[in-house]
Amino acid sequence: MFNPSQLLVALDREGEEPIYRQLIRTIRSQIESGELPPGTRLPASRDLARQLNISRISVVNAYAELRAEGYLSAHAGRGTFVSKEGNGTNPNPTSEKVVPVMNTVTENIAPDNSLREMMRMARKPGVISFSSGSPPVEFFPMQNLRDAINQVLDRDGASALNYEVPEGYAPLRSAVRDYVSALGIQCSPNNVLITGGTQQGLDLVIQALLSEGDILVTENPTYIGMLDIARTRRVQIHGVCTDEEGIRLDHLENFIIDHSPKLIYVMPTFQNPTGHVMPIHRRRQLLNLANEYNIPVLEDAIYHEFRFAGESLPPLKALDDTGIVIHASGYTKMLLPGIRIGYLITDGTYYQRLVRVKQAADISTPGLNQRVIHLMLESGLLGGQLERNNRELLRRRDAALVAAERHLPEGSTWNIPEGGLFLWIELPHNGPTAAELYITAIQQHVAYAIGNLFYTNNGGGNYKIRINYGIHKPADIEEGFRRLSKAWNEVVCEYQQMEKSPLL
Ligand SMILES: Cc1ncc(COP(=O)(O)O)c(C=O)c1O
Repeated sequence: MFNPSQLLVALDREGEEPIYRQLIRTIRSQIESGELPPGTRLPASRDLARQLNISRISVVNAYAELRAEGYLSAHAGRGTFVSKEGNGTNPNPTSEKVVPVMNTVTENIAPDNSLREMMRMARKPGVISFSSGSPPVEFFPMQNLRDAINQVLDRDGASALNYEVPEGYAPLRSAVRDYVSALGIQCSPNNVLITGGTQQGLDLVIQALLSEGDILVTENPTYIGMLDIARTRRVQIHGVCTDEEGIRLDHLENFIIDHSPKLIYVMPTFQNPTGHVMPIHRRRQLLNLANEYNIPVLEDAIYHEFRFAGESLPPLKALDDTGIVIHASGYTKMLLPGIRIGYLITDGTYYQRLVRVKQAADISTPGLNQRVIHLMLESGLLGGQLERNNRELLRRRDAALVAAERHLPEGSTWNIPEGGLFLWIELPHNGPTAAELYITAIQQHVAYAIGNLFYTNNGGGNYKIRINYGIHKPADIEEGFRRLSKAWNEVVCEYQQMEKSPLL
């Protein structure tokens, strides 16, 4: 007889291991020890979630994985059972059918560790994964990198590997000043702080400007990496709803009046995950609002250069005449993510504070990497590189739009990006949520980013998925969408079978 209290004892709610993994481990060990003999019927996922006071997705995913491993079997209309064969001997786990449990409750599900953990399944061999935020590896200028490393070592020898000043390698700061001036940002090298990727730039700003418990206001949905920073730096993060033009300023103003946030974080161009671009009038209005309430704006411009259609717009920092904007970007997505060169552009008031935090974080960004990127910028390769990349990204976007039209279930909607890497899709609400579809999608060898993960305030985006079309060639994009459609149909079909029987 299955006893949920055994699981209650085993679950460590404060621990690092996601709940659904703990559940898998506990049920598996009880099957192996014989405490749960073959043929035992497990409680319906909804009941077990309620009894254990955990998210239903955790139970659904634990059952699905145990079925794939052969420990459990599902019989539409009867329930989930400990397999007769008993213990993980499924000879062909990927062909095991998953019986999904549909979430008929409309409550929002907080993005939790179990969703993050689920996303790791995308790394399984053979999976066409649309889930990451990476640029395509075939874009990386490997030969130029080799040449630049050799040139730097020949030129500077060991001093390229010594400590660097925290502000950054001076010639690189000048090169960044020249680079951003072409985007309309006028500054001096003294306003440039070199960071370990854009991610570190964002983190430094949070550390320098906010204290524990302070409020950061963002677009909802927003970049997952910022949610991580807010969590680890213990600042409160609040998402304000968005429309096609980005953050809703009426809602933002109400929020500012009620809660006095310390910082506004936005991605005005090719927002991650929605792909939205904030038009010029809203950029100006946002700056007016920020100035009126004297709240600094952190602009994340990492996708600014990834434009393959439409008209380029100035970054917020180019429109900023009061110094209220801190501009963050980097040569990671544009050139080489692994070299980890980012930068912050900011005026005097924040600059010194940021330098102190940077020094405390890691003394300085590696000097060799800074010199290599400096040389690459000086060689003028970036312009041609971006042009080539964007031509290819356009081809891939078009392939994704055709595949979406062909394969996504009726009632799905998506954006038509003019740049960036992402398609932001909303699945029809009469089918599985993005999280419920995920395990079956993995079994069909396709993965995506689950929409819930990008939302603040305990959830939202249950039917949203983010597809990185940029990392795959058109044929794989087509095949990935075909698999996605197969997974969706499979789940819906099983749902329909289960609906005939209320037991599961
Ligand atoms: C919006 C956004 N900001 C920042 C980053 C971090 O970029 P970097 O590799 O420069 O640290 C990413 C990476 O995915 C991103 O999507």
